[in-house]
Amino acid sequence: MASPPLQLSAAPLLLLLLVVVIRAARSSRVFSVVDYGAAGDGSRYDTAAIQAAVDACAAAGGGRVLLPAPGNYLTATVHLRSRVVLEVAPGARLLGGTRQADYPPESRRWYVVLAENTTGAGVTGGGEINGQGGAFVVTPSEVKNVMVSWNTTGDCQLGDECRPRLVGFIDSKNVRIHDITLNQPAYWCLHLVRCDNTVIHNVSIFGDFNTPNNDGIDIEGSNNTVITNCHIDTGDDAICSKSSAGPVYNLTAANCWIRTKSCAIKFGSQSSFSFKRLLFDNIMIVDSHRGLGMQIRDGGNVSDVVFSNIKMSTRYYHPLWWGRAEPIYITTCPRHPDSKEGTISDIRFINISSVSENGVFLAGSKHGLLRNLKFKNVDLTYKRWTNYTGGLYDYRPGCQEMVKHRTGGMMLEHISGLEIDNVRMRWARGNLKGWDVNPLLFRPSTIDKLSFHDWQSVDVL
Ligand SMILES: *[C@@H]1O[C@H](CO)[C@@H](O)[C@H](O)[C@H]1NC(C)=O
Ligand SMILES: *[C@@H]1O[C@H](CO)[C@@H](O)[C@H](O)[C@H]1NC(C)=O
Ligand SMILES: *[C@@H]1O[C@H](CO)[C@@H](O)[C@H](O)[C@H]1NC(C)=O
Ligand SMILES: *[C@@H]1O[C@H](CO)[C@@H](O)[C@H](O)[C@H]1NC(C)=O
Ligand SMILES: *[C@@H]1O[C@H](CO)[C@@H](O)[C@H](O)[C@H]1NC(C)=O
Ligand SMILES: *[C@@H]1O[C@H](CO)[C@@H](O)[C@H](O)[C@H]1NC(C)=O
Ligand SMILES: *[C@@H]1O[C@H](CO)[C@@H](O)[C@H](O)[C@H]1NC(C)=O
Ligand SMILES: *[C@@H]1O[C@H](CO)[C@@H](O)[C@H](O)[C@H]1NC(C)=O
Repeated sequence: MASPPLQLSAAPLLLLLLVVVIRAARSSRVFSVVDYGAAGDGSRYDTAAIQAAVDACAAAGGGRVLLPAPGNYLTATVHLRSRVVLEVAPGARLLGGTRQADYPPESRRWYVVLAENTTGAGVTGGGEINGQGGAFVVTPSEVKNVMVSWNTTGDCQLGDECRPRLVGFIDSKNVRIHDITLNQPAYWCLHLVRCDNTVIHNVSIFGDFNTPNNDGIDIEGSNNTVITNCHIDTGDDAICSKSSAGPVYNLTAANCWIRTKSCAIKFGSQSSFSFKRLLFDNIMIVDSHRGLGMQIRDGGNVSDVVFSNIKMSTRYYHPLWWGRAEPIYITTCPRHPDSKEGTISDIRFINISSVSENGVFLAGSKHGLLRNLKFKNVDLTYKRWTNYTGGLYDYRPGCQEMVKHRTGGMMLEHISGLEIDNVRMRWARGNLKGWDVNPLLFRPSTIDKLSFHDWQSVDVL
């Protein structure tokens, strides 16, 4: 193993830091949007008042911009400035507009709240920021909602995904987001792009379970991000790191509860740069389509990652959703035949337990090996409780797509170095109707350096 990654002692330090941050905020000047003419009636746009309060606050050297309760403050994009913290009071709501004209012309700036090139900007206050995602549903469906796409004007090239995000920090430093609810985003919810030194604490995120692309937190090309005490219940990926905008270094997420119809903790699939030193600790993943996933497709390398103290249940949902009920899903299969193959090395799974409808999937590729994987104190229960068909391995996006396959407790290919230490597989055979299962399935010619210590595969009721 390489150098030990982040220490678990981050949490107390962080609390101390937060106390300092919050105290600093309390002592700073307050600019109430009401003093700048906000109506807060949910039907008139308060954009001008909110922006005037933000700009006045920035001009005064920073402070808090208060949205007092009660009030529903409808707005077009709010541009945050350095040292300005948006404070939505408990009982108050900031409502994102639902017209394309409410957002800047460039689709990469489509956010309800947007901070670009800022230092020390943030969002807090105990209230709610709401993207009115329901207004973007064209056809509601229990299977998957059909959504509005602002793709007809040529401003956005994202096909059916042209919808505004909720909160974005781009090229920003010392970002603070805490004690806030982010509700019903129309698209991605909280997005960091090329940020450094971000604290996300006690944030609750609620997306419609049937709405696609409403990711919880996307960490794109950003360093030194600490996420603690989060609650994420949404349709698409919950905590997702991406490296199309630069590498991702030093990401910690701890003490979180997650439910998603896609992947709970995901790396990629945009992965041109590397991911290094990431820690996921004390996380509960409930009824999700995938638990811990890495889809490395574009030549970036992943190293030094720890997943510890994680409990999860993963199940099948309609196949229009991304996932095949795998508790752990790792692939480096390149996006296109000529894409570079990234490697994944020094990954530890410690104190993990899962109940799942499918097995663990660990598939490197010829030049994108999985190196030095370690499973320690891992308890995997296999059981079926939905009626969706199994028996498929999922290499998507791209690659071999879906492959018909027997199901294995663990499927292994293209791995160099796998250490199994105190791992139990439990088979709820009574509930495995029609399942052709094997504890391990592997392509021996693609694997070396296997070590099994205290490994058991047992039947349970
Ligand atoms: C942010 O900084 C970049 C580089 O300095 C600049 O090109 C861009 O216009 C800035 N954006 C804003 C909104 O200030
Ligand atoms: C625009 O989005 C709709 C669905 O919202 C989709 O059917 C259509 O193909 C998209 N058009 C383009 C040009 O991507
Ligand atoms: C977390 O934030 C909510 C508001 O979103 C607040 O009501 C609650 O008190 C906070 N919890 C803690 C432990 O500070
Ligand atoms: C993150 O750190 C890496 C490695 O030092 C650096 O190349 C990259 O520019 C940093 N990104 C940001 C947004 O600071
Ligand atoms: C990552 O964290 C370590 C330890 O705190 C620090 O030394 C290193 O500079 C950080 N990396 C980046 C790119 O900020
Ligand atoms: C990934 O690692 C390989 C082999 O060390 C290296 O050639 C490649 O440049 C790395 N990729 C990135 C994006 O750094
Ligand atoms: C794993 O669990 C054991 C027993 O509860 C505990 O002593 C150990 O610290 C845990 N390891 C990590 C990395 O959290
Ligand atoms: C599965 O199918 C059976 C028989 O069609 C039905 O009785 C049962 O309710 C279904 N279970 C679920 C979870 O949908």
